[in-house]
Amino acid sequence: MPILEINHVSKFFGGLAAVSDVSFSVEAGSIMGLIGPNGAGKTTLFNCITGYYPPSRGEVFFHGRRMNGLDPDKVCMLGMVRTWQKVRPLARLSVVDNVMVGALAHTSSLRTARALAMDQLRVVGLDHRADFTAGGLPIGERKKLEVARALATRPKLLLLDEVMGGLNPAESAEIIQLILDIKQQGLTQMVIEHDMKAIMRISDRIVVLTSGEKLMEGTPQEVVTNPDVITAYLGESHA
Ligand SMILES: Nc1ncnc2c1ncn2[C@@H]1O[C@H](COP(=O)(O)OP(=O)(O)O)[C@@H](O)[C@H]1O
Ligand SMILES: [Mg+2]
Repeated sequence: MPILEINHVSKFFGGLAAVSDVSFSVEAGSIMGLIGPNGAGKTTLFNCITGYYPPSRGEVFFHGRRMNGLDPDKVCMLGMVRTWQKVRPLARLSVVDNVMVGALAHTSSLRTARALAMDQLRVVGLDHRADFTAGGLPIGERKKLEVARALATRPKLLLLDEVMGGLNPAESAEIIQLILDIKQQGLTQMVIEHDMKAIMRISDRIVVLTSGEKLMEGTPQEVVTNPDVITAYLGESHA
């Protein structure tokens, strides 16, 4: 049974259909890539899945449970959490305190939360920065912090929104390895990423959005050899 089912989801902003009648499902333990040109509706779809926006139409099922109308905190408690394309750590707090905010979703003990937070900092390779002020971290480390904070909520499904955006190749390679390690531990992931090589490498399946609509879905190989996908991306690079 799929862990996540998106059924005919649309999201309208005034007259604009940012997401239009999109359906697909994600198998437990897999990585689903989500790609498409800028403005295709990828972030909006994440917002509809994780409770930041109610879908205008359609339904989201997580573990068979209908999620429409639940707020992000409730969605997080049930096991779905996202990271943000524009990272926004609590800048004045320390790195470990930021991750504790995630851990406190499941425990009211500060001590337990701190231990959980340190565990997740180790997972992303940021434990040496635990006591740094979050706002002072370089972008690559802020992205890792964002992942650690999400992992600290102990999700079943992790949604990553352009977690490699703005990173250099070495930092991106570390994030790719992190995503693969997380998968190894059985966590299901949905990943929005612009870097085609990265998305090809990590995804089991890929959904392609253009102008809010699902252009196609398939294996990485099926997606990169699809003429419509090639046109959509060439269109973007010549824009
Ligand atoms: N809160 C909002 N209000 C109005 N329009 C929005 C809002 N959020 C996104 N949009 C519009 O929806 C479309 C899809 O945006 P987005 O989901 O951010 O695309 P992507 O993440 O694929 O680049 C864009 O045209 C964007 O301007
Ligand atoms: Mg986006």
